[in-house]
Amino acid sequence: MYPQTDIKSYMPVKILFGNNCVFNNKDVFKQTGKFPFIVTGKSGAVKSGAFDDVISVLNGGPYILYDRVEENPKVSDMEDAAIISKKFRCDYIIAIGGGSALDAAKAIAVLAVNNMSGMDLFSKKADAALPVIAIPTTSGTGSEVTPYSILTVDEWQTKKSFAGDCIYPKIALLDPKYTFSLPIDYTISTAFDAVSHLFESYFSLKSNEMSKMYSQEGIRAFAKAVDAIKNRKFDEQSRSALMYASMLGGIAISHTGTTAMHAMGYSMTYFHGLPHGFANLYFAEPYFRHMMKQEEQKTKTVTDLMGMTDLQSMINFFSDNIPRPKLNKEQCERYATLAMMQSSIKATPGNLTKEDIVNMFKEAGRT
Ligand SMILES: [Fe+2]
Repeated sequence: MYPQTDIKSYMPVKILFGNNCVFNNKDVFKQTGKFPFIVTGKSGAVKSGAFDDVISVLNGGPYILYDRVEENPKVSDMEDAAIISKKFRCDYIIAIGGGSALDAAKAIAVLAVNNMSGMDLFSKKADAALPVIAIPTTSGTGSEVTPYSILTVDEWQTKKSFAGDCIYPKIALLDPKYTFSLPIDYTISTAFDAVSHLFESYFSLKSNEMSKMYSQEGIRAFAKAVDAIKNRKFDEQSRSALMYASMLGGIAISHTGTTAMHAMGYSMTYFHGLPHGFANLYFAEPYFRHMMKQEEQKTKTVTDLMGMTDLQSMINFFSDNIPRPKLNKEQCERYATLAMMQSSIKATPGNLTKEDIVNMFKEAGRT
């Protein structure tokens, strides 16, 4: 049968990608609403130039600015922001920034129109939210096209995500120039997050012919930035390729979620401070070795799409570009227990056991 899998596909975001896309599509703002609540982080929106572009196309129209989103947005702060949005009766949200600003905006969008607390986001299913126009200034999370939001919960001292069709942004405006001013290390770590989404979605047991199409095109795009990453020098072409890859990664995981790489990576971020993208690819060697056994053809396809001569070259490419903290036996055991609690483990081919995961930590942590 062709296609070989059942297909479930949904992508309700209007995607507008290209140079000067904010100016070239300025009508989308007035079509979306009259009074925007603008959500940004502390500096990225301004440094990238995106904020000035938005203010310019609003053409003197009214807006309320919330520019206090922290790196890991807290639920309690989102509640405060939603109160402000409600008070001024804002009717849509413009989110400008990296994954944190975009994820924060999604939470505010829900809290602004529902009678619920921040913690309710994780237990109650909301079916309404203010429309969001998302303008990313990093190439990593793909949040501009996903139904996911990741927030920090103070009470639980951890991050927690919520999902729902109502938090897909209505419109994503992607202009690669907004990433030109990003520091090199940040560019690489966020790019690694994007490519981990593409890999993991491709290998996921939930993948289908259409989601794989997004992954393959995204990996092909990421490959165009491999030399830039190796040389730590980014030009317009490579930055544009990364923004496109990141967006495709977002679409891919919207259909499948992630797999073991993300599940294991969380501990490397939480306990060792590795940036999220580096934390995922920290497991490149054991993950791809496992996939070679489980999904040989897919692994070869990924290696080809990456433009690598063989699997080892691909593993080396990632390993050479990330910090590698060593792990002891006790840490491997403890982190594996935490990783097993993530549902994404079950979406990984090969029925991974706790022992498999411990071994992956050991291999990555070289103990
Ligand atoms: Fe991620």
